[in-house]
Amino acid sequence: NKLAAKKKKAKQRHEEEDASLQIGANDSGKEMLPLTAFARPLPQLDSLPESKQQEIQRALHLFSFGQTMPRTLQQAARRAYEFWHTQPVPKLGETAMGRGQITAGEASAREEPYSLPRGFSWDTLELSRPSVMQELRTLLNENYTEDDDNTVAPDLSVDYLQWVLQPPNWLAQWHCGVRVESNKKLVGFIAAVPADVHVYDTVKRMAQIKFLCVHKKLRLKRMTPVLIRELARRVRRQGVGQAAYTASVVLPTPLSSCRLHHRPLNLRKLLEVQYPGIRGDMPPQRALKFYRLPENTKTAGLRPMTKDHIERVRRLLQANLSKFHLKAGWSREEVAHWLLPREDVIDTYVVEADDGALTGVVSFYGISSKVLNHRLHGSVRAAHLFYATSAAGGDLVQLAEDALVLLKSKGFDIVIAADVMDNNRFLEQLKFSFSGKWLHYYLYNWRCPTLSSDKVCCKENKRSENGRRVSRDAKTRKKMDEC
Ligand SMILES: CC(C)(COP(=O)(O)OP(=O)(O)OC[C@H]1O[C@@H](n2cnc3c(N)ncnc32)[C@H](O)[C@@H]1OP(=O)(O)O)[C@@H](O)C(=O)NCCC(=O)NCCS
Repeated sequence: NKLAAKKKKAKQRHEEEDASLQIGANDSGKEMLPLTAFARPLPQLDSLPESKQQEIQRALHLFSFGQTMPRTLQQAARRAYEFWHTQPVPKLGETAMGRGQITAGEASAREEPYSLPRGFSWDTLELSRPSVMQELRTLLNENYTEDDDNTVAPDLSVDYLQWVLQPPNWLAQWHCGVRVESNKKLVGFIAAVPADVHVYDTVKRMAQIKFLCVHKKLRLKRMTPVLIRELARRVRRQGVGQAAYTASVVLPTPLSSCRLHHRPLNLRKLLEVQYPGIRGDMPPQRALKFYRLPENTKTAGLRPMTKDHIERVRRLLQANLSKFHLKAGWSREEVAHWLLPREDVIDTYVVEADDGALTGVVSFYGISSKVLNHRLHGSVRAAHLFYATSAAGGDLVQLAEDALVLLKSKGFDIVIAADVMDNNRFLEQLKFSFSGKWLHYYLYNWRCPTLSSDKVCCKENKRSENGRRVSRDAKTRKKMDEC
């Protein structure tokens, strides 16, 4: 009888929880919007041609109708965070007293999935099926962008998605999609991959969150809290109680915050597409000279990483980890997965001495963006610095400069690097500048003191920055041509 009563109570609690999670409701369950609102936020909008819809969305964005997410702690202090304040995360402004998990919830993780409004259903994406992978790619390429100004769109490849979403020990049930039942269209996605994360002196198996994305037409309808709760449930069902994630927006509460820097390689093109943060305030000739790179690399023994290097790379990375307080561990399989070169996805170079000793590793992954409606340029290729490390006595600045030389020769237009790890040692010297964007690191269900960005060393796949295209006037183009 006691057990039956307990089960009944749990069922009731779950039903109440589900009711409050109806998309369109606030988190106390009030103000439910009709379910059709989820599918068709503005029926009149749907009847317009796609280009008109985009124009209206851009106008809404420009005039900031609707809520915008906080970008600074000051803005965050004014937000209610109805959802996040119900989650096991430190409150904003709270000083962490001690370290450890906030709630012990793995054991009681409910069996049944969270409810979605009628007309929508969960789908665990089988990414090994090419058609499903293609659907995910379409969702992300059309919607994985914050600034909907119709100027650039991400162009993530299937190979890139496989690399990010299928590392060693990946779990299919952590690739969590939402579909419209009537036409099976994929309209929401959130994923996680397992990783052993070291936080100060604790090592925890965590879920590393990837690609939270809601279709543009379903934004601001509180689909995100449902996605996060459902993924958290699936993660807990595997006995994992913590997650690590990053966001460019401020949520409760960043553990660390880093600044994203960028460094032009093809300045002329970046100016022509008016890439954000790339200023044309220097006379073109001087700017081209300023960013000029040597023709060839200078580090002796610099060569592409091969399978033979896996164990030595692992040892070098491992040896360099002790100075960081937030870091991901490296197994042999993880080194092979994350670092072995894959065409158009990830490139890694090692510095190998004659006796076979490795003294440096530099690695970067590429993300392309489509430039929309530009007469001359169809895409921008951004290289993201993944890892740059050198053993004691190695020249990290030279290694990073060589990476720029290689990237330029491979046709990349810009390099993006965060001020994490030892990157501050070369960012300024190699003419990186602050892009104006921040990336905040978060832990779910773990409390500990905050740390500076140079103490962070994580396998983090940052999304490419959004470009902003405005056609260059003919005079500037002519000047650039002359250079
Ligand atoms: C991020 C995104 C899923 C948010 O969707 P949305 O429709 O704006 O927000 P919803 O109405 O569904 O949910 C709002 C809640 O989600 C939270 N939220 C918004 N962005 C978030 C993020 N990046 N990570 C975690 N939570 C987020 C909000 O804080 C809010 O909760 P609160 O009431 O506690 O403040 C959507 O804007 C998107 O797909 N953007 C493009 C891709 C992207 O930027 N993904 C995040 C990568 S870090």
